[in-house]
This record gives sequence, C-alpha cells and structure tokens, in this order.
Amino acid sequence: MRVLAGLFLFLAIVLVDATSSLPGPLRLAATFSRISNELDHISLGNCSLANATLPLNDTKTKLPNPSSNLNLKYIALGRGTQNYSCPSLSDSHNSRNTSKPTATGAAATLFDASCIASQSLTLLHEMPVVIGGTPLGSLALLAELLSHTTNSSDLIIGEHYFNAAGDPFFNLKLSGSNAWMVTKKDASVTAPKRVSHIAADNGDEDVAWLRLSSTDGHGIKEVYRVMTFEGSPPSTCAGQNDTILVDYAAEYWFYG
Ligand SMILES: *[C@@H]1O[C@H](CO)[C@@H](O)[C@H](O)[C@H]1NC(C)=O
Ligand SMILES: *[C@@H]1O[C@H](CO)[C@@H](O)[C@H](O)[C@H]1NC(C)=O
Ligand SMILES: *[C@@H]1O[C@H](CO)[C@@H](O)[C@H](O)[C@H]1NC(C)=O
Ligand SMILES: *[C@@H]1O[C@H](CO)[C@@H](O)[C@H](O)[C@H]1NC(C)=O
Ligand SMILES: *[C@@H]1O[C@H](CO)[C@@H](O)[C@H](O)[C@H]1NC(C)=O
Ligand SMILES: *[C@@H]1O[C@H](CO)[C@@H](O)[C@H](O)[C@H]1NC(C)=O
Ligand SMILES: *[C@@H]1O[C@H](CO)[C@@H](O)[C@H](O)[C@H]1NC(C)=O
Repeated sequence: MRVLAGLFLFLAIVLVDATSSLPGPLRLAATFSRISNELDHISLGNCSLANATLPLNDTKTKLPNPSSNLNLKYIALGRGTQNYSCPSLSDSHNSRNTSKPTATGAAATLFDASCIASQSLTLLHEMPVVIGGTPLGSLALLAELLSHTTNSSDLIIGEHYFNAAGDPFFNLKLSGSNAWMVTKKDASVTAPKRVSHIAADNGDEDVAWLRLSSTDGHGIKEVYRVMTFEGSPPSTCAGQNDTILVDYAAEYWFYG
C-alpha cells in the first residue's frame, strides 16, 4: 500500500493542477491521487459520526428528517446497478419505441464510509461520483484506497438488494453488527443538479434521493439514499434489451 500511496502522491503533484484539461482516465487518476492523499491524513480508529449531518437542504423539496428517537449508525457508499425491464420483443414488438423501462430492483455492495464522513463530508460527497465512474472490476482499487481510513480489511459492510417479495433489503451483517432491515419507501425527491468537476451532470440521470423505513429487521430502522450518481433508465425501451442494468453509486445513511 505504501508504494501505491507514493505513486498516487507523485501523480497528484504532477497532475492535480492540470486536472481540468486532462482526458477522462487521467482525470480519474488525478482525482484518485488527490483523494488518496486526503485519506492519508485521516487518523485511524476515530470515526465518530457525531458531527455528520445529512445533506437534506440540498434538494428543492426536502426529505423528512430522521425520527428524533434514532441515532446515525452507519454511513455507507453503495455501488451497483439499478435494474429495469422492457416488454419482451416477441410479446410487443411494436410498443417498444414508446414503452418506458420499468424498475425491477437494484443490487449494490455497501462500503464503510464512516471514517471518511467523520473527517470530511466534502470528501464523502465526492465519493459517489468517483466510484460511480469506476468499473465494478476496479473495486479492489477502491477497497485499497478506503483501507487507508480503517483499521481493518472489512471495508465491505453489507449488501443492498431486493428480496423475493420485491422489497428493498439491506443486510449489514458483514459489519459484525447483525443489523439488517426490509424496507418500504417513505419519501422520494428529485436529485439536485450535481456539482462536480469530475463528471458533468447531463440532466435527469441521477436516481432520486429517498427515505426508506423498516418493516422488519434488527438494529437499523431508517435509511436515506442521497448524493446519487446515475442509475436512471433510458427514456424509452427503443433499442434496449429485455433487462437493463444501469450502474449507479450513492451514499446510504443508516439510523437505528
Ligand atoms: C489497529 O489494529 C491493531 C491490530 O488489531 C491494534 O493493535 C491497533 O491498536 C489498532 N489501531 C487503532 C488506531 O485502532
Ligand atoms: C477521537 O475523537 C474524540 C471525540 O469523539 C476525541 O475526544 C479524541 O481526542 C479523538 N482521538 C484522537 C486520537 O484523535
Ligand atoms: C464536532 O464539532 C465540534 C465543533 O466544531 C468539535 O469541537 C468536535 O471536536 C467535533 N467532534 C468530532 C467527533 O469531530
Ligand atoms: C438546513 O437549513 C436549516 C434552516 O432552513 C438550518 O437550520 C440547518 O442548519 C441546515 N442544515 C444543514 C445541514 O445545513
Ligand atoms: C422504432 O424506432 C426505430 C428508430 O429508432 C424505427 O426505425 C422503427 O421503424 C420504429 N418502429 C416502430 C414500430 O415505430
Ligand atoms: C439486479 O442486477 C444485479 C446485477 O447487477 C443482479 O445481481 C440482481 O439479481 C438484479 N436484481 C433484480 C431484482 O433484478
Ligand atoms: C443487449 O445484450 C447484449 C448481450 O448481453 C449486449 O451485448 C448488448 O450490448 C445489449 N444491448 C444494449 C442496448 O444494452
């Protein structure tokens, strides 16, 4: 890791000033290097969430506040896909051009971001754009970067997926806490225009910010999906497969 960090630092010195004029991959490298450098300064083992506040003021219509009897338990970065379906070609060939993709669920890996959040919410809020622009296959690199911030290799704290009944499910058992919950959607607001120099905001591509609350579970009761990066479906099914997987990333804030 030291060697890698050194390389990042070198890249940072060489590239950071010229970031905006770089081609995509180098811009990403420069971003990684800067973030890696910032992460280096995060002190290990002190990841209090006492000062972390949900960015609820960022949206035009605000999501409701967390219930006052609950405390912030985890902040995770989610990276995965939002899934959609289109009418089968054989069924309804002619309607494809006008039919819209239907949301069928999602799947994401949840990475521990509590230490980043305890140090810098600005840095935290940049992470969805960075990891959303990183191929899933490069998650090892992400885990390597994040390992700066924790004193463990357990950077993956859980998974988010839809259960057999089609309800959003959060499993944080990998955090060692046995926390999990089945949820229902309480509120949904349009994602605000993204402010980032890393990736342009091309319109309505970021999935909505949400508040979900548990219908069953242990240890956690509410979760917010905020700072979303992409995940929205194409506007129509024209030219699409029956199943569409759209990459996305987001912050998930868990209260319990
Ligand atoms: C990190 O983990 C090691 C081994 O488990 C432990 O000895 C050390 O005290 C930990 N450091 C912090 C800052 O928690
Ligand atoms: C960790 O944070 C607590 C406050 O939550 C503070 O009192 C303590 O000094 C910090 N420790 C280190 C090593 O920074
Ligand atoms: C929270 O913020 C207060 C005021 O800025 C500061 O004194 C305190 O150290 C912070 N606590 C943590 C855990 O960062
Ligand atoms: C959101 O706005 C309210 C006032 O409208 C303010 O009291 C609060 O501190 C703001 N929260 C954050 C996190 O900026
Ligand atoms: C669907 O759109 C394609 C072009 O996007 C067009 O070639 C085709 O004729 C359209 N089909 C129908 C049934 O409207
Ligand atoms: C969504 O897509 C993922 C692949 O990213 C897959 O593992 C998962 O089973 C799909 N879930 C649903 C409900 O379609
Ligand atoms: C449809 O699926 C095929 C095979 O998985 C893939 O190669 C192709 O890119 C997909 N088309 C679209 C529009 O995603």
